[in-house]
Amino acid sequence: MYKHIYRRFLEANPTLLHFASHSHHYWPDATREAQLQYWDDSAKHVDHKWEFLFTQKVPVAQKLIAENLNLSNPSQIVFAPNTHEFVFRLISSLDWTKKISILTTDSEFYSFDRQANRLAEFAQFEVVKVPVMPFDTFHERFEQELASRSWNLVFLSHVFFNSALVSDFKRLSQKASPSSLFVVDGYHGFMAVPTDLKTVEDKIFYLAGSYKYAQGGEGACFLHVPSSARHRPFYTGWFAELAHLSAVGNQVPYPEDASQYSGSTMDLTPVYRLIATLETFKKEGLSVTKIHSWVQQNQKLFLEELEKKHHPLLNKRSLIVSDLNHHGHFLTFNLPSVEETQKMVAHLKNQGVLTDSRGTRLRFGFGLYHDKSQIEKCISLI
Ligand SMILES: Cc1ncc(COP(=O)(O)O)c(C=O)c1O
Repeated sequence: MYKHIYRRFLEANPTLLHFASHSHHYWPDATREAQLQYWDDSAKHVDHKWEFLFTQKVPVAQKLIAENLNLSNPSQIVFAPNTHEFVFRLISSLDWTKKISILTTDSEFYSFDRQANRLAEFAQFEVVKVPVMPFDTFHERFEQELASRSWNLVFLSHVFFNSALVSDFKRLSQKASPSSLFVVDGYHGFMAVPTDLKTVEDKIFYLAGSYKYAQGGEGACFLHVPSSARHRPFYTGWFAELAHLSAVGNQVPYPEDASQYSGSTMDLTPVYRLIATLETFKKEGLSVTKIHSWVQQNQKLFLEELEKKHHPLLNKRSLIVSDLNHHGHFLTFNLPSVEETQKMVAHLKNQGVLTDSRGTRLRFGFGLYHDKSQIEKCISLI
């Protein structure tokens, strides 16, 4: 039904059953023209390119993102090539002359987790990780930690990358101290799980990127900054000072909008691709709710068909799920060992089915280019 959007990627991989959309989604055809348009705009605007990009293109991307997250102020969105840059910039806005306490989970993506682990090697940092499992008590346990003290930084995912379980970050943000920096990693939620940030937009930082469900490829990550934030991250780039460049001196001024979290020169081709994807969805009448229900429908079909196979490893008992109606866009099966998991990924790859794994967890990702026939074929090859 939506395959026409992805004609080029599908033609380039005619026999592949791509069930890794949660890792890297196929790109809509419109992104190719967008990529070329960046070249043409660079040729046309030459030295005035940045002015053109920041006044004509970035605001379009900000507006499209804000629409999808129901944010009232698009200018509170800033871009960077990856989320790690934001992770470190956020941490660098804390007061490093004092002890720093960080509350997070045991299921954050490596960009945050690795950095937090490294910082925890310094006595100055204390990092507490709440286990996501068992999930039915996760929110209560996280709330207990939140209430135990005033954390400098609270960081958690909306959709956990190693399970697709969905956190109720709005509920948790209500329990956080107003002085905590509350950051949500929305990478597995953005453009997949309907997300309305309106009621928490003045409280939370939300970061995401376009490599996955926003389908624009790598290089276009963004951060929503609450409008009251007046931070001075010490990991700062000159884009944070674009409006003050002529006044560079001993002082380091910061803007009041989201660009206080800006870095430096970046390739904006990925932002063009992101715009192209989000505009394609608009043209096709594809809201996040619609995309989500298409994926949910296919996930349910996948599980029904799988059930009929009575597979010893991939079955209801090994599936990690809390509520399929509130679940991310991949299905995760917990296998007995890392070796068995890798063996299964390799077996599926030999059959032409692309999946991936994280430790003992095997992930099947669903996208708009899957339909009933592909689901049935995939199941028959397991
Ligand atoms: C939850 C989550 N956050 C962030 C990222 C991307 O991080 P980065 O942009 O630093 O590579 C990923 C990528 O898979 C992810 O799964």
